[in-house]
Amino acid sequence: MTPIDTTFNASTRFVNHRLHLGVCGSVACYKAADLLRAWHKLGIHVSVTLTAAAQRFVAPLLFESLGAMPVYQGMFSPGDNIFAHLEPGQSAEAYVIAPASADALSRLVHGAASDMLSAQALAFDKTLIIAPAMNPRMWAHRATRANAALLQERGIVIIEPACGDTACGNEGQGRLADLSDIFLAVLRALAPQDMAGRKVLVTLGPTREPWDGARFWSNPSSGRMGTAMAVCAWLRGAEVTAVCGPGEAIWLPPGIVRINVGSAREMFAAARDSWPQMDMGMFVAAVADFFPKSLGPDKFKKSETPQGFSIEFCPNPDILQTLAAHRRPDQKLLGFAAESTPDMESLLPLTREKRLRKNADLLAANRINAQGSGFGSHTNRMAVIDAHGHEVIWPEQSKADVAWDLCSWLLRI
Ligand code: CTP
Repeated sequence: MTPIDTTFNASTRFVNHRLHLGVCGSVACYKAADLLRAWHKLGIHVSVTLTAAAQRFVAPLLFESLGAMPVYQGMFSPGDNIFAHLEPGQSAEAYVIAPASADALSRLVHGAASDMLSAQALAFDKTLIIAPAMNPRMWAHRATRANAALLQERGIVIIEPACGDTACGNEGQGRLADLSDIFLAVLRALAPQDMAGRKVLVTLGPTREPWDGARFWSNPSSGRMGTAMAVCAWLRGAEVTAVCGPGEAIWLPPGIVRINVGSAREMFAAARDSWPQMDMGMFVAAVADFFPKSLGPDKFKKSETPQGFSIEFCPNPDILQTLAAHRRPDQKLLGFAAESTPDMESLLPLTREKRLRKNADLLAANRINAQGSGFGSHTNRMAVIDAHGHEVIWPEQSKADVAWDLCSWLLRI
C-alpha cells in the first residue's frame, strides 16, 4: 500500500502548478521521495533543495530521477544560476520543508541565509509549510517549541510531528507527520481559496442499523465520494464538518471537524445540530431508509427460531429532505442519488424527480450497476441537475474531479 492514500491522489486539477520542496537531514528524509512522487503524479512541477545533511542520507540523483527539476544542493554549486536562492520565490506557489530539522526551524526563525534552503525560504513570500521531524526530546525542548510557535505566528503552516517510536529508539512526538496530511496541506496551498469563509456540512459513508447485540443492516458505501467532497471543500478554503458513518476508507485531514456516527438516527441528530451554522450542506451519505426493530441488546440465538423469522422495518428520518425544509434562503444543498438504471439517459427523469422532492439546489446521480461508478469505485459517472433546469451527463472521472466540479457548480448557483 502506498503511504499516501487520499481521494485526491487521482485529481487532475493541479496540473502545471509549481511547488518547491526543501529536505533537511533526518532519517525521515527518504519519505520526501514518496511525497515528491505523489505531487509529480498530479502534474505538479516540483523543484527540490537538499541541505548538506540531507545529502548524507539521500542522493540528489534520487530526486532528479523522480522528476524534480532542478535539485539544488548548495549555495555555490557549479552550474547553478548565481541567483538560484531567489528562484523558488519567483516560480513556486508554495514552499514545503519536509522533513524540517530543529536546526532548520532555528535558522528560519532568525532569518538566516547561510545555506541554500534557508536563503530560498527567506526570499519566499508565499505559503511556507513546515513538517518537522526529530528526536522527541529535541521537539519537546522549549527552544524548539518556541521556534515553531513563532513561525506559526508569522503565518507559516506547521504540520506537527506525529507520536510513536522514532528511529533513534525513543517513543514520543517527533516522527514526520502522516504523509497524507503533508500531501493535502500542500494541495490546499495550491488550490483556489474560493470557498474561504464558507461553513460546509458533509454527510458521508453508510449507516448501520443494529437489530440485535451482534448484527446490523447496512449497505456497501465506502464513503469515498463523501470524503472527496469534504476534502475538496477544505482544500478550497471552507470550514468543513463531516458527519461520518462507519467505513474503512474514510480518512480525513485533521483540519476537518469529524463527527463519527453509527445509525441514520445518529447521523440525523448530528447533522441537524450543525445545520443552523452552515452555509452549504453536501448530503453524500448512503443513509439506510429503514431501521429494523431491534430484537434487544443481546445476541439473537438461531435456536430460538430454527425455521427463520421476520423483522419489522420502520422509516428513518430523511436528513436531506428535513434540513432542506428548514433552510435559510442563503443555505445551499447538494444531494446525491444512487440508482439502478439501464443507461445514463434514463437516470435523468429519476434525478429530476428526486431533486424536486428533496428540494436540493443540485442533485448528482450515479448508477450503482455500472462499471467505474457507484459504491466502492474510485471513479464515478454522474448525471447532474440543478434547480435552474441545467442538466449534464459527465464522462467517467475520478471522485476527486467529480467533487471539484460539484463544488464549482454549487458556488455558481
Ligand atoms: N438521504 C438522506 N436521508 C435519508 C435518505 C437519503 O439524507 N434517510 C439523502 C442521501 O444522502 C442523498 C439523497 O438523500 O443525498 C438521495 O438518497 P437516495 O437513497 O438515492 O434516495 P431515497 O430518498 O432513499 O429514495 P429512493 O430509495 O426512492 O431512491
